[in-house]
Amino acid sequence: MAGKARRRPYFGADMTDPAPLASIAADLSGGRTSGLRFLDDRGTLAIVLDVTGLAADDRKPLEDRLRAGLLEQPGVREVRVAMTAEKKTMTIIAVGSGKGGVGKSTLAANLAVALRRIGVKVGLVDADIYGPSQPRLMASEDVKPEARGSKLAPVPNAYGVPMLSTGQIAQPGQAIAWRGPMAGKALEQLVDASWGDIDTLVVDLPPGTGDVQLTMIQKHKPAGAVIVSTPQDLALMDATRAINLFQQADVPIIGLVENMAGYACPHCGEVSDPFGSGGAEAAAKVMGLDFLGRVPLAMAIRLASDGGVPPAAGTDPAGEPFHAIAAKVAEWLDARKGK
Ligand SMILES: Nc1ncnc2c1ncn2[C@@H]1O[C@H](COP(=O)(O)OP(=O)(O)O)[C@@H](O)[C@H]1O
Ligand SMILES: [Mg+2]
Repeated sequence: MAGKARRRPYFGADMTDPAPLASIAADLSGGRTSGLRFLDDRGTLAIVLDVTGLAADDRKPLEDRLRAGLLEQPGVREVRVAMTAEKKTMTIIAVGSGKGGVGKSTLAANLAVALRRIGVKVGLVDADIYGPSQPRLMASEDVKPEARGSKLAPVPNAYGVPMLSTGQIAQPGQAIAWRGPMAGKALEQLVDASWGDIDTLVVDLPPGTGDVQLTMIQKHKPAGAVIVSTPQDLALMDATRAINLFQQADVPIIGLVENMAGYACPHCGEVSDPFGSGGAEAAAKVMGLDFLGRVPLAMAIRLASDGGVPPAAGTDPAGEPFHAIAAKVAEWLDARKGK
């Protein structure tokens, strides 16, 4: 005899085949496991669990479920779980404008809600330190985000678009004192928050083209930018400065939105064009940019917005322009993914 026969594990040769256990682990974890193997013949199992995109609070319960489920299998005595997570890079869509009051925040909120309705896992960041308005637009005023570990937990809302706003982390009236580094830090907290499975962020930027905006754009490089302007704004070329800001930072312009374009009659909904129409579209063409659509000046939009109900969330016709714009932005995102 050539020495002692190697001791076989009591569960038999078939249980050293990890394939059936691997498929059980995949079922238990929603396909997040890999690298399952036995470390010894005493039933010590090692497995890698990918927790990318999961909120910190959801990781431990998943690990526990996985371990408990595997321990129920014959021959498994111990389960060593190694958690890994890819550092997630968010796709950031910046919404910018040459100046305030053109409906940038209104567009950002409705774009996010409309993208959500077509299945994009989207969150909203209100980076407008000078006049944060997303808490009002998304009916989340007075809600303070909680900390989840070392990160902020975005505030949920009825529209399925978790949100974080400078307005929620600053005291009212303090915002104006935020200069350069402080503003950069604040935005960092908002972008690098505990976003869970959100992969796309719509960021409502401060209006204009100051240093704060530039720092933000360079630090959290957006995938693309949507520029909002009114017909008058375009005539004054304010929008051009915003466009230059992004182009300097190598951020592609997704396209131009003309807001408050024409007047929608509150009675019949018909849009009249006191300033004529097609100007923004023509201007976009001259600048070599895509035109994403026009949103009429409509009482319904202002009332719904002030009331914390983004028009894109309902079935009101006032939401339609936003859905059309979101469809174009989604198309742009898909084309980018395909590259
Ligand atoms: N298309 C529109 N029709 C009617 N009111 C609008 C429209 N877009 C924006 N508003 C209103 O104009 C004001 C400024 O819009 P806001 O989105 O806060 O602009 P910005 O973020 O560019 O400063 C808000 O009261 C908003 O409800
Ligand atoms: Mg605003």
